[in-house]
Amino acid sequence: MEIYVDTANLVEIKEAHELGILDGVTTNPSLIAKEGIDYGVRLAEICEVVSGPVSAEVIATEAKAMIAEGKERAKIASNIVVKLPTTVDGLKACKVLSDEGIKTNMTLCFQPLQAMMVAKAGAYLVSPFIGRLDDIGEDGTELIARIRTIYDNYGFETKILAASIRHPKHMLECAMIGADVATLPLKVIKQMMNHPLTDSGIETFLADYAKAFG
Ligand code: E4P
Repeated sequence: MEIYVDTANLVEIKEAHELGILDGVTTNPSLIAKEGIDYGVRLAEICEVVSGPVSAEVIATEAKAMIAEGKERAKIASNIVVKLPTTVDGLKACKVLSDEGIKTNMTLCFQPLQAMMVAKAGAYLVSPFIGRLDDIGEDGTELIARIRTIYDNYGFETKILAASIRHPKHMLECAMIGADVATLPLKVIKQMMNHPLTDSGIETFLADYAKAFG
């Protein structure tokens, strides 16, 4: 399973990269707004640290403008993936960019047929947002399972990128279902390595060793 970090913060990206397990990065307009830096400049900085896919979201909402913006973003580095909203215009832009060899990540996917449509248009990634569905009383991981079934039924090659992950349980469920990729905050990446018995086990081992050997 590929792991991306979901942030535009360079310090966090470097820290995630140093863990040695980072496959890519996702950003969005809200995340870049928190950084207060030009989006293009930050994307270039991220691509110097991470060689895997780096998602760059378009601000435009109309197909023609999305295509133009996507092409500009793609010039920043060879690992840029153009992130487009999962709308009718986004679908059209996805088809055009994919046909030209530019990778796309279809974001804000909330139902399985959206995922089927963008796969038909050649999307490289689809991003179902599981936390935001849970927030409104729906079942986010069920969406991942439904998309997995549809993609496997028809052999679609679009990768399922589980997004809007809030905690390790989301991550575990996505891994059990077979999401190809998950993007998550650095905090959740680190939480995946935690267990109180690991900590207390180390303490006991070290105390026993110290008692015996001083
Ligand atoms: C994914 O690409 C998005 O940036 C992200 O996962 C959104 O997560 P949120 O619902 O926590 O904002």
